[in-house]
Amino acid sequence: MGEARRHDRFDEMTPPSIVLSNAGIVRRFFIVEIIVNFEESNRLRTLFKNIKELLQVRACNVTKVAGKDMAILPTIEEAYMLIENDHILDYGKMQDLPEEVPADAVVDLTGKIVLPTWCDSHTHIVYAGNREQEFVDRINGLSYEQIAQRGGGILNSAKKLGDTPEEELYRESAQRLEEVIRLGTGAIEIKSGYGLTTDGELKMLRAVKRMKEHFHIPIKATFLAAHAVPSAFKNNKDGYIDLVMNEMLPEVAKENLADYIDVFCEKGYFSVEDTDRILSEGEKYGLRPKVHVNQFNALGGVQISVKHQALSVDHLEEMRDEDIHSLKQSDTMPVALPSCSLFLGIPYTPARKIIDSGLPLALATDYNPGSTPSGNMNLVVSLACMKMRLTPEEAINAATINGAYAMGSSDRVGSITAGKKANFIITKPIPSYGFLPYAFGSNNIETVWIDGKPTEV
Ligand code: NIG
Ligand code: FE
Repeated sequence: MGEARRHDRFDEMTPPSIVLSNAGIVRRFFIVEIIVNFEESNRLRTLFKNIKELLQVRACNVTKVAGKDMAILPTIEEAYMLIENDHILDYGKMQDLPEEVPADAVVDLTGKIVLPTWCDSHTHIVYAGNREQEFVDRINGLSYEQIAQRGGGILNSAKKLGDTPEEELYRESAQRLEEVIRLGTGAIEIKSGYGLTTDGELKMLRAVKRMKEHFHIPIKATFLAAHAVPSAFKNNKDGYIDLVMNEMLPEVAKENLADYIDVFCEKGYFSVEDTDRILSEGEKYGLRPKVHVNQFNALGGVQISVKHQALSVDHLEEMRDEDIHSLKQSDTMPVALPSCSLFLGIPYTPARKIIDSGLPLALATDYNPGSTPSGNMNLVVSLACMKMRLTPEEAINAATINGAYAMGSSDRVGSITAGKKANFIITKPIPSYGFLPYAFGSNNIETVWIDGKPTEV
């Protein structure tokens, strides 16, 4: 690792750069110093120095933060971070950086902030086409519910998905995933629910399985066949629920396609009793619930989800005191989806009330073609501050460590912790981390590192 070799390497490469391939995409990232020839070692260490501030530095036993603790964001100013291959190895203050750190590459981050990538614990990014026309219909006065009652909404997406070959569905969905990774997402949950037939649901979940194989970020799959009653069962909801429980679930379990189970518990979709039955059946296959509740009406979906030890309850735009009370007796993470509220013009989840009662809160996008055609976690963090009165510290906690909890990935992502995956965001030079939600709509991300490698922006 001597000086001579370093100069040899510099002579060979002008300008100094590393080119890495991840998920089939070639990325180039400029580094300031190359100390050894990478091919000589299968342990690649990269040292990031002069980091203006390293955010969300946590001990490995912290899996979520709640209540007043959400206002605390542990950081190290003037920091270094050392990664080895795909994981975080070490970090600390620059003044404590040993003189001889065995690193293969050194990156100077003067003026830039580093934080863990966003954990988006609620998406529906596997879908076909779009629902732009419904957007215009809503502008012209129809509500989301009215559009659904006319056969639009989820059923519209189910029709498009049925007409789309598996390969094309994968291509469209993978493109969305690449887009959100560039926006800083480094872990994602993806739901089925636009198939609504056995073949359609399997097609969606197989697409997710393929993404798990191709992308180097934690991906969790959720079985959401109980998303809407398909036209073929218009007057026979129980017949559809039987199909979900007795045909789809066993197939999904046989192919090991799902990590979680979800139900859209809502008027006009699935009742609390339906939800109870479906979640009970899912439990038999070891699928923990993550449930759509209280989007338009608070029906008791929170209580039934807590009864089934749901990992998360998501939406919560309508919240009753008893819902807060039930969550306080549980390990269930409440998840808010503010860009859905923005797009549909429905109330925002009462986040202040949730956090001030001592509960944790996670933030996610809900990226889907109908209620949230956006997977931008940066916008979600801004909206949480602007519309739900979260402080930047609370919003960053909700979008990282608590998001990781809400998708069962806090052992791998969600914080800067030794041993966790080297999935992190490097910002452009910015005055402070509060600038991220403040400068809403601007892209202040310079580079996203996934699995210890830089992705292109
Ligand atoms: O979370 N509310 C249920 N499901 C999605 C919307 C689905 C759609 O409109 O396609 C949501 O908002
Ligand atoms: Fe959703």
